[in-house]
Amino acid sequence: MLSVTNLDVAYGNAMALHGISIEVEQGQMVFIAGRNGAGKTTLFKSIAGFLEPRSGAILFEGKSIVGLPPEKVALLGIRYIFQDKRVFSNLTVRENIELAAYPVNVNMKEAVDKVLQIYPKMENFLSLRAGSLSGGQRQILLIGRALIGDPKLLLIDEPTEGLAAGTINDILNVLSAMKGKVSMVIVEQNLSVVGMLADKVYMVKEGKIMKEMVNKAEINDKMAMEQFL
Ligand SMILES: Nc1ncnc2c1ncn2[C@@H]1O[C@H](COP(=O)(O)OP(=O)(O)OP(=O)(O)O)[C@@H](O)[C@H]1O
Ligand SMILES: [Mg+2]
Repeated sequence: MLSVTNLDVAYGNAMALHGISIEVEQGQMVFIAGRNGAGKTTLFKSIAGFLEPRSGAILFEGKSIVGLPPEKVALLGIRYIFQDKRVFSNLTVRENIELAAYPVNVNMKEAVDKVLQIYPKMENFLSLRAGSLSGGQRQILLIGRALIGDPKLLLIDEPTEGLAAGTINDILNVLSAMKGKVSMVIVEQNLSVVGMLADKVYMVKEGKIMKEMVNKAEINDKMAMEQFL
């Protein structure tokens, strides 16, 4: 459903991605792993329409999306969950959900249900300021919000970054329950998380794909993955 071919992306004169190609099939959970500065977020920004590539193709369901602005890409069914985990801190959780429901014409009950489906505990927090949620709950709120309007593909940038071990488990549970229901590309540096969930992994280093892994045994072998970081 998503096919990126030979993507070159630069910031001014500084090249950030060199000939990146990735393929995502319907229902797959594909991971992008790589060290800080490898170009993972740059890849997501290019797919989501925030950066215009220098060259290369991005096809979504067979149609080119290169050059489309972010809101058009979103309307096609791609939702991008940023790395910064930012919510509207001074608004309530319910209001945060409302802001995501409005642009996609989904009524509030359905929108709230979407979030509660992946994390029933959120019911207790609906009237609280989103800023009072823990980092993990905020991440879950962002994922739940992204599901409103039934997107086809989620791009999730480092969902477990900066979270405590116990909280990472909550995220793992949410993601594994979503597996197969919506296609996902997830940037993740925690290779244990990758090993538990991935159908396919791309190892990225200095803006290039160093290795593609689809073999389950290989994906579960942290040492095998680490040599490509
Ligand atoms: N706005 C920008 N202007 C110039 N260079 C940038 C900009 N954003 C990123 N870069 C550079 O592009 C390269 C890739 O950055 P990117 O943010 O995509 O990496 P990343 O893999 O997401 O890293 P991290 O794991 O730290 O989030 C880095 O060398 C970075 O310094
Ligand atoms: Mg990044």
